[in-house]
Amino acid sequence: MKHIDIKDILNDKTYLGKTVTVCGWVRTFRDSSQVAFLELADGTCFSRLQAVVDKNAVVLGSECSKTGAALCVTGEVVKAFKGDGVELNAKDVQLLGKCPPEYPIQKKRTTLEFLRGIPHLRLRTNTFTAVFKVRSVAAQAIHRYFHEHGYYYINTPIITASDCEGAGEMFRVTTQPYGAKCASEAEYYQNDFFGQKAGLSVSGQLEGEVAATAFSKIYTFGPSFRAENSNTTRHLAEFWHIEPEVAFAELPDIIEIAEEMLKYVIRAVLDECAEEIGFFDSFIEKGLKEKLLGVVNSQFAVCDYTEAVELLKKADAKFQYPVEWGCDLQTEHEKYLTEVIFKKPVFVTNYPKAIKSFYMKQNADGKTVAATDLLVPGIGEIIGCSEREADLEKLLTAMKERKMDVNAYKQYLDLRTFGSVPHSGFGLGFERFVMYVTGMENIRDVTLFPRSVNNIM
Ligand code: 4AD
Ligand code: MG
Repeated sequence: MKHIDIKDILNDKTYLGKTVTVCGWVRTFRDSSQVAFLELADGTCFSRLQAVVDKNAVVLGSECSKTGAALCVTGEVVKAFKGDGVELNAKDVQLLGKCPPEYPIQKKRTTLEFLRGIPHLRLRTNTFTAVFKVRSVAAQAIHRYFHEHGYYYINTPIITASDCEGAGEMFRVTTQPYGAKCASEAEYYQNDFFGQKAGLSVSGQLEGEVAATAFSKIYTFGPSFRAENSNTTRHLAEFWHIEPEVAFAELPDIIEIAEEMLKYVIRAVLDECAEEIGFFDSFIEKGLKEKLLGVVNSQFAVCDYTEAVELLKKADAKFQYPVEWGCDLQTEHEKYLTEVIFKKPVFVTNYPKAIKSFYMKQNADGKTVAATDLLVPGIGEIIGCSEREADLEKLLTAMKERKMDVNAYKQYLDLRTFGSVPHSGFGLGFERFVMYVTGMENIRDVTLFPRSVNNIM
């Protein structure tokens, strides 16, 4: 259908005085004896276009005024009666698809919780139009950042035999029929599609390391899957994961890259989504724009885990989980550090090795690893990052301590045999990042069709 995007009509002054055709859905309808006002949205931008219908000159079918109806309107672009924008003097209004009154997106009932029950329709609201514009702009900016900095974009397998994080949170992939008769677990997997146990990848890191030790700088941007039984506002069973991996880089180098990349992407969102950020600032998180400007214009904090534990122990706060050196930081601790103590994003570095993954570089103290989590106010961890253990013997020791099947990681270990180099990488949870820049508080509200425990709508 020949038509013009509403975004273009609103932003491009050359349409003024021209006759155009637009398509979209009715957001609101107001009526008087002579004139009717239709607000149309087509999702190409946050704003809507008002079509003014002279009822004496234009036939307006009764279905055309219903919220949610799809219309095709032809008319002249004129200066708006109010404000300095434009509106459409309708000459012809065609109904493309009617929308009966059961349409669930009526003004009164649109709480975020209610909208979670209609994921296929909620995108037609202001909030979700803004969220997905920001999400799209951020994704493009992430690709641009890495492309401009000479990284290869690689795609790592989704089906895999190795559990990168070793946390036993892999979804299994199988074609074995229900009730398959097998004498043992080994036989069960032998008879399965791949002849061994397979699952959905929790991270592309291990394959990312393979590529980085050939191309120096790579990144992945794809889905990761975690069968975590945690029903929280920041966990999904399927999330999008950005994982750069850089050869000849140690922990301070990768920290610098992570900070630079985040600032680049936030700047892009501020530049390209001014209207959406304004909306979030007014209706979702007061002060959001200030916060983001503060982030791009200041340096992130860096704090050693040992020091973080001391700060938390001295904190004037009641935590549900006690803090001791050696414990994993809980969300309440992460939020306290970043929201109360540092009041900005903070890299917590050098965690105890016992609570972190096998692949992390072991520090000389014998107790900690060269790993960092980036914590941000409102969310907690958005990045998990580390220098990788490049020494074959040390890596083998860490794997054996964790009772891992060393034979299953032969290729990974080969990287330490053939031209091993210091290298580092991180994983950014894309949805958590989108939460941070929009102020949305529930990860289910920044994902098209969120998957979580007992939820696959
Ligand atoms: O900290 P994680 O588990 O680190 C890794 O997977 C490393 N292999 C990354 C790397 O070094 N290449 O996960 C990285 C990030 C977390 O900080 C978080 O933002 C996000 O992925 N994440 C989740 N996001 C949503 N739902 C979940 N269940 C998530 N689990 C991790
Ligand atoms: Mg982590």
